Amino acid sequence: MANIINGKEISKAIREEIKESTELLVRDTGVRPGLAVIIVGEDPASQVYVRNKKKACDEVGFYSESYELPESTTQEELNALVDKLNRNDKIHGILCQLPLPKHLDENEVIMRISPAKDVDAFHPENVGKIMIGDYSFLPCTPAGVMALLERSGIEVSGKECVVVGRSNIVGKPQAMLLLHANGTVTICHSRTKNLAEVCRRADILVAAIGKADFFTGDMVKEGAVVIDVGMNRRADGKLTGDVDFASVEPKASYITPVPGGVGPMTITMLMQNTLTAAKNSVK
Ligand code: GUN
Repeated sequence: MANIINGKEISKAIREEIKESTELLVRDTGVRPGLAVIIVGEDPASQVYVRNKKKACDEVGFYSESYELPESTTQEELNALVDKLNRNDKIHGILCQLPLPKHLDENEVIMRISPAKDVDAFHPENVGKIMIGDYSFLPCTPAGVMALLERSGIEVSGKECVVVGRSNIVGKPQAMLLLHANGTVTICHSRTKNLAEVCRRADILVAAIGKADFFTGDMVKEGAVVIDVGMNRRADGKLTGDVDFASVEPKASYITPVPGGVGPMTITMLMQNTLTAAKNSVK
């Protein structure tokens, strides 16, 4: 029987701490952290994320602005909005919800957001800082995973860590954060040979490939810590992770559920980054 890592509870505790730090920052400097969220088009999943981000801002006492732009928005219009937010002193963090509609260039937007307000840590300047271990902004999902490990008392140092998935948003930065915590890190992807065998070596397995219920009990070592970053919709509309919980849970020592594991942590880390950006603005 695995210990279930409760992301909702850990997230709540961290948001309480962020709220307290925010109150102190406002009291001492008059600066209230502000986050702007941009969403282009009508993707229902993105709209839910944006609503949750606004709710989280209210909860921790941040100022927030949401921009829900039509699908027909041009690159010039989007660029102009980013430029305006870059200049706005009330806004410390800017997040443009990805994916964008096909006619818009995500890279151009990522490059345009001021690195000081890049609370996603997607700008090459921030990505580079992560590589050398200078973490002003932590990439939200991998940082959420690290916080879950830390607050569950799971030591990373010296452990075999296997990250499955090599996206710029999750897999690559996750590997860096685990490495920084002195884990021995392997990154696997779609071309990896003998994936199950590599996964069975893992003391800590991070599943981030976006395939529902892909990781089964036979791919996991007895006593492993299993972190499920997947968020997939089943045909019946239910949310499910990359890990087949029923067969993996009996073998794992710790496991994150979906929903209620990594998911709630991502927005909490976004709040953390926005607080950091606001603090940096008064330095
Ligand atoms: N879409 C899915 N996850 C994310 C994220 O972490 N940041 C942004 N900007 N868009 C996303």
